[in-house]
Amino acid sequence: MTAPPLTLEFHALGQGTRQALIDDVRAGLGRQPKELPPRWFYDERGSELFELITELPEYYQTRTEAAILRQCASDVVQRVQPRSILELGAGASTKTRLLIEAAHSSGELRWFQPFDVSDAIVQRAARDLLRDFPGLTIHAVIGDFKEHLDRIPRFGRQLVVFLGSTIGNFFPDERRSFLSAVRQLMGPEDAFLLGVDLVKDPLVLEAAYDDAQGVTAQFNLNVLSVINRELQADFDLGSFRHVACYDRENQWIEMHLRSLGNQIVHIPGAGFTAEFKEGELMRTEISAKFTRQRVDESFAQAGLRTEAWYTDREERFALALAVPEER
Ligand code: SAH
Ligand code: AVI
Repeated sequence: MTAPPLTLEFHALGQGTRQALIDDVRAGLGRQPKELPPRWFYDERGSELFELITELPEYYQTRTEAAILRQCASDVVQRVQPRSILELGAGASTKTRLLIEAAHSSGELRWFQPFDVSDAIVQRAARDLLRDFPGLTIHAVIGDFKEHLDRIPRFGRQLVVFLGSTIGNFFPDERRSFLSAVRQLMGPEDAFLLGVDLVKDPLVLEAAYDDAQGVTAQFNLNVLSVINRELQADFDLGSFRHVACYDRENQWIEMHLRSLGNQIVHIPGAGFTAEFKEGELMRTEISAKFTRQRVDESFAQAGLRTEAWYTDREERFALALAVPEER
């Protein structure tokens, strides 16, 4: 019997996910200043809104990273010769196609493993990939990359990829634990390809997170719709405004929702009531920007070293290829 070309493994679903949302809402809205983790942006609508963001004129990140990948994919594949590509926070895997294509045509690649918390977008992407890459087997893992990385099965020499500068959405301590967990996943021959957005003019960055069409604002507000639906809350989306600003000291963008008045929000599914003052900010995301030095240091702390660094001519974005330090 031949193995099925698409298998799915769920670690985040149903009651467990609901409890995680309840815990995050109670902890995040119970503290001052209020805060929600970015994971909850990505229901089906949120994933669609993110895909729209990637096409915005102001959001240079995705097309710059794709252009770099077009240049470097064959070099990466030659260095690593992966039998499997594991993509963390895969989403629609649009850019990853460039790597899959290079590795598939070099003949070694057998497996693609998208890992994401949002199952609908991963399943759609998997079907398209199977159609386009005969012989490829996909094992999709639905889970939270802060919790479930150690559950991912291994199918021989692997290239682990984490694109889109999603690593920027971690606070420094979360980034350290995440990179150590990635290192734990890796065998001596494996490699890790990381996409990072680079430090640049704050005006360019702020425009990328506050686009003229208001798509990023909808993406930000979508987290309130998720809480309304999942926990029967009564957030009025019209009573909050999207805010994005660059913190020069920390070198990260912060996204917030600003309460437009004094208001009380009921969240019965979490047994919680939240009070917002007029003008109060609730942080919903950070998006850190990097330098080569910061990437090298972060890798070193996790027992990794930078083997190759690929960037665009304007140095807006970079892809860093890391291998275990002792290799
Ligand atoms: N890699 C794609 C998508 C980036 S958007 C790109 O470069 O365009 C960030 C992705 O990470 C989304 O698909 C989202 O569902 C996923 N994600 C966010 N938080 C997550 C978490 N805690 N665990 C696993 N996936 C997560
Ligand atoms: C997925 N992540 C890296 C995006 C970013 O740029 O931080 C999410 C995003 N938030 C607003 N726009 C895009």
